[in-house]
Amino acid sequence: MNVGDRNYRTIWLKGGDEAVVQLIDQRQLPHRFVIEDISTVEQMCAAIRDMHVRGAGLIGAAAGYGMYLAALEAARAAVFDEHLTSAAAQLKATRPTAVNLAWAVQRQLDAIATANTTSEKIEVARSTAETIASEDAEHCRSIGQHGLELIQQIARRKGGKRVNVLTHCNAGWLAFVDHGSATAPIYAAHDSGLPIHVWVDETRPRNQGSKLTAWELNEHGVPHTVIADNTGGHLMQRGEVDLVIVGTDRTTYTGDVANKIGTYLKALAAKDNNVPFYVALPSSSFDWQMRDGLAEIPIEERGAEEVKHADGWADGRQVEVRVTPEASPAANYGFDVTPRRLVTGLITERGICKADEAEILAMFPEHAR
Ligand code: MRU
Repeated sequence: MNVGDRNYRTIWLKGGDEAVVQLIDQRQLPHRFVIEDISTVEQMCAAIRDMHVRGAGLIGAAAGYGMYLAALEAARAAVFDEHLTSAAAQLKATRPTAVNLAWAVQRQLDAIATANTTSEKIEVARSTAETIASEDAEHCRSIGQHGLELIQQIARRKGGKRVNVLTHCNAGWLAFVDHGSATAPIYAAHDSGLPIHVWVDETRPRNQGSKLTAWELNEHGVPHTVIADNTGGHLMQRGEVDLVIVGTDRTTYTGDVANKIGTYLKALAAKDNNVPFYVALPSSSFDWQMRDGLAEIPIEERGAEEVKHADGWADGRQVEVRVTPEASPAANYGFDVTPRRLVTGLITERGICKADEAEILAMFPEHAR
């Protein structure tokens, strides 16, 4: 997507030095646009864990490039395979909920295992990392085309009046390699000239909505309004939300959806108000092993300081302030699970299906057992 007049992905190999991965450091947005160089597995692990990069698709792509850096390091280590296995374990341990992470690491291990010499292994790791990134971008582009049809239907029903979409957190291009999942249909609708407006949940505690989604939509010129996290139900009761589209970090093959904390409450409000609630995801965000999302999906718990503090821009610099009494404990659950019964449909790169096992496996028959 464009930043100013330049087109960017969120992660790429550095031109002129392919031993370095470059990424947009999202901790600095929306205030500063900073590109970071990553040249070791340890740096990539820190970038994922400390959320320089975040969002399911981008975490997967970062892990793919991390394994390429691991192959470069392994070539200098005493035992290639041991170094690779240890790097894979380190990368997998960085964050627990987004399934794309383990999926990308395993895809790299399987690919590298097919090569014989060290230089072949490095080349396979490089091209697999690039393929994971490009597939992610292409799948998100297709999600945009399928989701566009939903928005067109609503626009027709409303006689051309603006379509209001509510989204939670950031499942935009910053959460993937390009286009985004939840935002891809929004960008496609806006680009095709449909009048569209987005309600952007701020998404405490890290404010991925008010910082990242708002920044993206602004850069692309999409009309939007940032709302406090508790506002969505009120807007739905007043008929001011036509459609909810969110992303997901892991969806079971039976249709249970893990996404940023607070998603479940939006799904409940949507159900009570007959507002369609869609989840947009590339197939890399399905967990083909897990049946029961509530019981099985690991929910990340992050540090209490993210809840106790907020950061922003003041006097030309990024500042952090405490917003709770110092002594008050805080809990920080990163994700929740929305049961399939609350989900109207899943928007995937192959089309739209119901959030149930039969329809998901009919769309992805290669995963049927
Ligand atoms: O903690 P994050 O920022 O990595 O969480 C991921 C998210 O941004 C959301 O849960 C998103 O809606 C799904 S990831 C495409």
